[in-house]
Amino acid sequence: MAQYPPIMKDKPVFLHGGDYNPEQWMNEKDTIWKIDMEMAKKAGINTLSVGIFSWAMLEPKEGKFHFEWLDEVMDMLAENGIKAVLATPSGARPAWMAEKYPEVLRVRSDDRRELFGGRHNHCLTSPVYREKVRKINTLLAERYKDHPALGMWHVSNEYGGECHCNLCQEKFRGWLKERYSTIDKLNDSWWNTFWSHRYSSFDQIHSPSHMGESGSHGLNLAWKRFTTQQFCDFYSWEIEPLKRITPDIPCTANLMHTYPGINYFELGRLLDRSSWDNYPTWTNDMRDAGVAAHSAFCHDLMRGVCGDKPFMMMESSPSAVNWQPINRLRTPGILMLQGLQAVAHGSDTVQYFQFRKGKGSSEKFHGAVISHDNSDQNRVFQEVAQVGDALAHLTPIVGAGTENKIALIYDWENRWALDDAQFGNNINKGYEQTVDAHYCGFARAGYGVDVIDETCDLSGYSIVCGPMTYMLRPGFAERVKSFVENGGRYIATYISGWVNEEDLCFMGGFPGPLRDVLGVWDEENDAMDENQHNHFTWNGKTYEISDFCALIHAENAKIMSLLEDKFYKGYPALTENAYGKGKAYYIAGRTDEHFLKDFYGAIAREAGLLPLVEDLPYGVLCTKRVGDHGEFLFVMNTVPAENTVKLPSCTEVRSGEELGGEYTLQPYQVLALKKK
Ligand code: GLA
Ligand code: ZN
Repeated sequence: MAQYPPIMKDKPVFLHGGDYNPEQWMNEKDTIWKIDMEMAKKAGINTLSVGIFSWAMLEPKEGKFHFEWLDEVMDMLAENGIKAVLATPSGARPAWMAEKYPEVLRVRSDDRRELFGGRHNHCLTSPVYREKVRKINTLLAERYKDHPALGMWHVSNEYGGECHCNLCQEKFRGWLKERYSTIDKLNDSWWNTFWSHRYSSFDQIHSPSHMGESGSHGLNLAWKRFTTQQFCDFYSWEIEPLKRITPDIPCTANLMHTYPGINYFELGRLLDRSSWDNYPTWTNDMRDAGVAAHSAFCHDLMRGVCGDKPFMMMESSPSAVNWQPINRLRTPGILMLQGLQAVAHGSDTVQYFQFRKGKGSSEKFHGAVISHDNSDQNRVFQEVAQVGDALAHLTPIVGAGTENKIALIYDWENRWALDDAQFGNNINKGYEQTVDAHYCGFARAGYGVDVIDETCDLSGYSIVCGPMTYMLRPGFAERVKSFVENGGRYIATYISGWVNEEDLCFMGGFPGPLRDVLGVWDEENDAMDENQHNHFTWNGKTYEISDFCALIHAENAKIMSLLEDKFYKGYPALTENAYGKGKAYYIAGRTDEHFLKDFYGAIAREAGLLPLVEDLPYGVLCTKRVGDHGEFLFVMNTVPAENTVKLPSCTEVRSGEELGGEYTLQPYQVLALKKK
């Protein structure tokens, strides 16, 4: 059982708030700020994120700092019992800086320097940018270190992208020298004899570019690893003064779920708590079952990157966003579902983008707690207030951990290599969708899941599933073997164990170092278009295979089912290999979540794991959190239709009602239950 301290020491409740830009209202602050504080109280808002894009207001001219307005904001928050998630402003820079020091502007892979504008576009190497960031972060920390409103540091905003300037090229070459020590070692690791690509000096290396080298898998992979290190290094640079001056204030950086540009398992390790921005594309119809399941996966991934501590849903929209192709309003009930679903997966916050809609520029029509009408009578505001009220009733759950015995592997480096590889289906290898489908298999069978990567410890789990682990990172195959030897159940699929960490193929037959534990040899692999399928029958039911299928031989493994069509007929579709005290399974083709639900439900039961709720109807999801105040079960109806579930004997936390047995959930209804 794990009970964690509250994110902000002196706020032991769920944090409810959002991004707030009071500096956009300086000309009307006497009226607007007053309304903001009154409405915050009515909505049960206890935290606001400030200063995220405030650099031009904090330092309007080089070296001329104006903190007075922020002093006023911080004082106002403190007076109203609201904690500040105070940002470092590096997410967007002032115009004077770009004008005087063009080196702070990013260079694209085609060697062109960007103009001033936009955001999230600074060079991470630039000594000038680093010095300016260090200076303003230090001043912020010194000024607000004893301020009662300071609750947390929000470092920059949604780190992302990459810079190809000369400073970054130099740093990249330095990073490569560290990693490979000699140019020949690098050439061999990247298979550079191919197309006469051998370098004779590190100085010849340029980042991947469509103007130059873009087809070297070794180079592409190295560049992605380097870019991740750039962000880790920049984050560490940003927090140095924060940690030195305010050691008790936690730091976070808001992440973007499966954003491919940064290995979040690396960056996540540096955060005190992970936080992320959740924008599900709710459809308001039965497809919301899929939308909610994808959010569930993302929550578990974002919890996983920071070692399973309660996390923060830093942003979510109270209503329609403004950047999706079709921006739908939320059907009544969805906002509550969206908020409590985060809590169900381990979030200790429900935060929005944004608290108040701006009057101008590109986000003026993005959903907000306070709209242009300034009204507390509109539907969105009232639903936000209901979420605030619900969270206040769920306080005993704050800090409770999750205790999942099933882990699913989502690995950024594997994804990079797989996305880059040319074989089979080159339009979309579908790694993320595949991991998502396997996640749904467990979730729809009623099990909670941890999402980890290939570097994580497997030993605490009963079941580990690694879909499409094309790249085996150092030590991973060994960890899988000892996990299974010691009684674990491991599931692998087609396209597993093809390449090592340098993206070089394993010799002697796939799945390479996993061949022994899986007991199969993967001889050939086929790709199919959307009209082509194969089939197999397991446990009396016939299932479909799409997109990818491996033709394998069971060496030591027992065959559980055979492929049925075309020349594949007679090859194994599913195998099980007894190995040590455990078992390893292989699924030879891409199956849908219905098969995965049936299959994982059976494996979990065999492993002695019971579902959180038996016979979950499609569209209902559940999770649990366990802490000092008990075991809490969340049952969530994610669709606009009634669904009947069988509940264990429990108390509904918000209403105090005793429940147990059959219960009909209303559309989008969420139950937070305390188990007896
Ligand atoms: C991102 C950003 C926010 C805002 C929202 C809009 O998540 O972090 O500043 O632009 O998107 O949805
Ligand atoms: Zn650069």
